[in-house]
Amino acid sequence: MSTAKGRGVRHFVDLHRVERETLAWIIDAAHSLKRVDPRGLAHRPLEGKTLALIFEKPSTRTRVSFEVGMRQLGGSVVMLTGSELQLGRGETIGDTARVLSRYVDAIMLRTWDEDRLEEMAEAATVPVINGLTDTSHPCQLLADVMTIDERRGGVRGQVVAWTGDGNNVARSWIRAAALFDFELRMACPEPLMPPAELVAWAHGQGARLSVSHDPDTVVRGADVVVTDTWVSMGDKEAPSRHNLLRPFQVNDRLMRIAKPDAIFMHCLPAHRGEEVTDVVLDGPHSAVWDEAENRLHSQKALLMWCLGGEDKLPK
Ligand code: CP
Ligand code: NVA
Repeated sequence: MSTAKGRGVRHFVDLHRVERETLAWIIDAAHSLKRVDPRGLAHRPLEGKTLALIFEKPSTRTRVSFEVGMRQLGGSVVMLTGSELQLGRGETIGDTARVLSRYVDAIMLRTWDEDRLEEMAEAATVPVINGLTDTSHPCQLLADVMTIDERRGGVRGQVVAWTGDGNNVARSWIRAAALFDFELRMACPEPLMPPAELVAWAHGQGARLSVSHDPDTVVRGADVVVTDTWVSMGDKEAPSRHNLLRPFQVNDRLMRIAKPDAIFMHCLPAHRGEEVTDVVLDGPHSAVWDEAENRLHSQKALLMWCLGGEDKLPK
């Protein structure tokens, strides 16, 4: 618990809000944790620490991987939903953050508008972790970079093709392309393109990023093919989204255009038969189960960084 205000608190609000060296440390630490003590049986660096998990949207992977990860590191968790908290009756995010900071050592928030997360980080005196917003999912990208490392022997120089909605996960891929050394080629329907300001920001950072509308062109020769649901949590207009996104489906035909040893990635949950076919999801190119597992290892590393445990990695 901390009562010292703001400065130096290790929030993980977004990928580009931490140093590149920190991202590199987290990914390295995630590999070490997975290699040396994957179930956390011998190594309890966060003993006595408590993490609050607040979900204003549903979750399977984020919820379970953070809870299990924190327990494996020797800590404990308090699992909360927005509707159970006074937050659901109008207590402000800031006041909730100030109170929770007196009880727990870190807070993870999954929410709607990015402003809610910013408000929590502004008021909290303990680290705040972004567990997904309408416009970002940075924890997912930690696991995704780790998975590319494992399956492709490193992320540097890889060609990643995104096909589908320019949604929260797509936007975090754009952040990642600016921070890790890979090429990102995106194909999205015109009405569902990622924001032009974000694309301009990434180009300004030197990212190798192209955004277009043709899945075949972006997937041709790619090392990694990635997509996500056509309808994210909170999205409306499902029928029109389906019509727009149908040509962006990842199927056997599209995977054949990628490199012969390309991998398929998806943050999950998948909507089988929509953005991806069973043949791809269950086929030899699919890395999705490793990707889901790596949420656990990468978030354990993230928690160790947030809570200042860099010198407590298992040898
Ligand atoms: N990928 C992901 O964040 O899954 P959940 O919504 O199940 O947490
Ligand atoms: N884009 C999806 C990701 C779920 C993990 C959503 O926001 O619903």
